[in-house]
Amino acid sequence: MKPGPSSERAVILAASERDAVKTAHLIKEAGYYANICGDLAEFERQVASGAGLAIIADEAIRTADLVGLTRWLNEQPSWSDFPIVLMSEKGGPERNPEAARLGRALGNVTFIERPFHPTTLVSLVAAAVRGRRRQYQTRQILEDLTESEDLLQTALDAGHLGALELHLPDFELEASPTCKTFFGRKPRGPFTYQDLLEAVHPDDRARRSETVEQTLRTGADYRIEYRIIWPDGTQHWLDVRARAVRRPDGSIRSLVGVCSDITARKTAEIEREALLAQLAAERTALAELTATLEQRVEQRTADLMKEVAARERAQEQLRHAQKMEAIGQLTGGVAHDFNNLLMAVMGNLDLLRKRMPEDPRLRRLVDGALQGAERGASLTQRLLAFARQQDLRAVPVDLGALVRDMSELLERSLGPRITLRLDIPDGLPAACVDTNQLELAVLNLAINARDAMPDGGVIEIRLAAWQAKNDPALQPGSYLKLSVVDSGTGMSPDVLKRAIEPFFSSKPVGKGTGLGLSMVHGLAVQLGGALQLSSAVGKGTTAVLVLPVATTAPAVESPEPAVQKVKRSAVILLVDDDPLIAMSTMEMLEDLGHRVIGASSGPHALDILRSDQEIDLMMTDHVMPGMTGLELAAASRELRPHLVVLLATGYAELPDGTQVDLPRLAKPYHQDQLRERLDQLLGQGAGPHTAASADSLATPSNLSPSH
Ligand SMILES: Nc1ncnc2c1ncn2[C@@H]1O[C@H](COP(=O)(O)OP(=O)(O)OP(=O)(O)O)[C@@H](O)[C@H]1O
Ligand SMILES: [Mg+2]
Repeated sequence: MKPGPSSERAVILAASERDAVKTAHLIKEAGYYANICGDLAEFERQVASGAGLAIIADEAIRTADLVGLTRWLNEQPSWSDFPIVLMSEKGGPERNPEAARLGRALGNVTFIERPFHPTTLVSLVAAAVRGRRRQYQTRQILEDLTESEDLLQTALDAGHLGALELHLPDFELEASPTCKTFFGRKPRGPFTYQDLLEAVHPDDRARRSETVEQTLRTGADYRIEYRIIWPDGTQHWLDVRARAVRRPDGSIRSLVGVCSDITARKTAEIEREALLAQLAAERTALAELTATLEQRVEQRTADLMKEVAARERAQEQLRHAQKMEAIGQLTGGVAHDFNNLLMAVMGNLDLLRKRMPEDPRLRRLVDGALQGAERGASLTQRLLAFARQQDLRAVPVDLGALVRDMSELLERSLGPRITLRLDIPDGLPAACVDTNQLELAVLNLAINARDAMPDGGVIEIRLAAWQAKNDPALQPGSYLKLSVVDSGTGMSPDVLKRAIEPFFSSKPVGKGTGLGLSMVHGLAVQLGGALQLSSAVGKGTTAVLVLPVATTAPAVESPEPAVQKVKRSAVILLVDDDPLIAMSTMEMLEDLGHRVIGASSGPHALDILRSDQEIDLMMTDHVMPGMTGLELAAASRELRPHLVVLLATGYAELPDGTQVDLPRLAKPYHQDQLRERLDQLLGQGAGPHTAASADSLATPSNLSPSH
């Protein structure tokens, strides 16, 4: 209610109407407002509707029921202390117990004793109105305060802020309901500073108390974020900001501030930080990866290139080996047939030469034909060697001695412009080789070296022990290396690749057969070794024969068995399935003065052996359908244990590893060679030929480089 006529008026309850009018008149004359009430009920209504003061005559209420009025007075708002002027006949409360009772009941009462001077009443009214005005002002201030408090509360609510005040020096905490809920407490429940301290997360306590102390020490604003633990055990984040409020003397009276729950923001922040940390870690890892990637790609590429190259090399080697194998088989087959044909040609030429009339011209023709046949035989020998199908006698051989023994022959073959050097260490183990074939091989290598040095030079032959470990072409184990080293023209990679192919030759037609290295290679492989060629154009060539070390010591060559019996003519059982060869051999044998019984197969021969026909020697071919020469020899032992058997073989079809203790004659052979062998076996052989073995006689005659 605004101050004004109704709020400042004096409400009058008098004993009589005359008194009331008079009193109102006085008051109005003094410039105030007044209202006269007829009875207590109206008076109560008027007062309740707003008034500056009341003027009551005690006679008017002495007997009245004042419950309603006193209740109204007691229920006045805090700013209001309604002034009442009580007019009495018998003085104030000090003398009048009745007045004292009314004064206690009505509160803010001023007594005026009748009769009174009008100015006394007017000054009392003026004082009451002044007092009432101050009350109205207080009311206004309170209303304004309430309004701004409401505003503040609204703002706090809108900002989801809790309010708190910490009173000093006793650290008494006053927290708003919202603030309490931030601590997980009931909005209206108790919440002390001790409660707050205990709610702070143990890890944040020190930091928080330091911040508080700093604010108390310096007066600086308090601002902190910390974790709290709710009574239900959950963790939350709070942002608390406060400012020091000072007393007039400058000391701090309290810290007043707000707090807000920032759990959601903090959680998001922590998640984001974790994410950022993870990102940073990933970036670092990526950077490292990128840094090493290039290197790794390079490394891997290099590895792959190496692998590819190795695989290509292996495939190339395999292709080459397969090609050689195919050529070898083909060559072996052809050579075998060719050998048999030469056998017939040579046999017949031999006979022809003996039986034809003494005519030098005819003799020259036959000799020419024989020479041609012999060269053919040499070729087939080399082809068989390449095909790894020659008849080898691998025995332990001292390679050093072998090479030294050859040096004279080599020097002769190499000519005066070539110097031969030997590098043969002592104490090397024996190699397991076929002596004659190995000599041939060394000779071939030396001649190749010589041909590569048309202006002369040095050829070195070296021997060395060697262990094979990861060589795909060789069984792991002990080997000897026989190297023939020259400093000649060398070979281009293409030539080097094809050098061991049969019939590959860079030499002019007629000069080279292209079978030299083929033979050497075939021999080395057949012996369980290898031929290794390395060469560079202009630098020279090294040919290495890798040969297996013998498991037994070299045998001292036993002399040929002593010649005993003398028997001019013998009965010979000749077994051969090839009629052409059978015929020429028979001719040769008969020409030598022997009697020949022919058999075309093993069983046929056995039939004859079962008879009581006298037989001194059985000469048999090995490769025959149905029964081989070896099988025939074995079967014959049962029929005639002492029968001498001669095996004619041109071709190593004997199964690998078969120990053949039979006398053998290599095809093709001359009549002379046949005679010598028979002489040895029949014990007729005294003469210049017996020193040579059949094997050495099989040495091709065209080894000489001039061919
Ligand atoms: N020491 C070497 N230096 C340079 N080239 C060589 C050497 N040895 C072999 N060759 C090359 O390899 C080819 C084949 O050699 P291989 O011994 O098989 O046959 P050839 O010597 O030509 O004929 P043949 O040996 O039958 O007389 C030779 O023609 C030559 O081109
Ligand atoms: Mg050669």
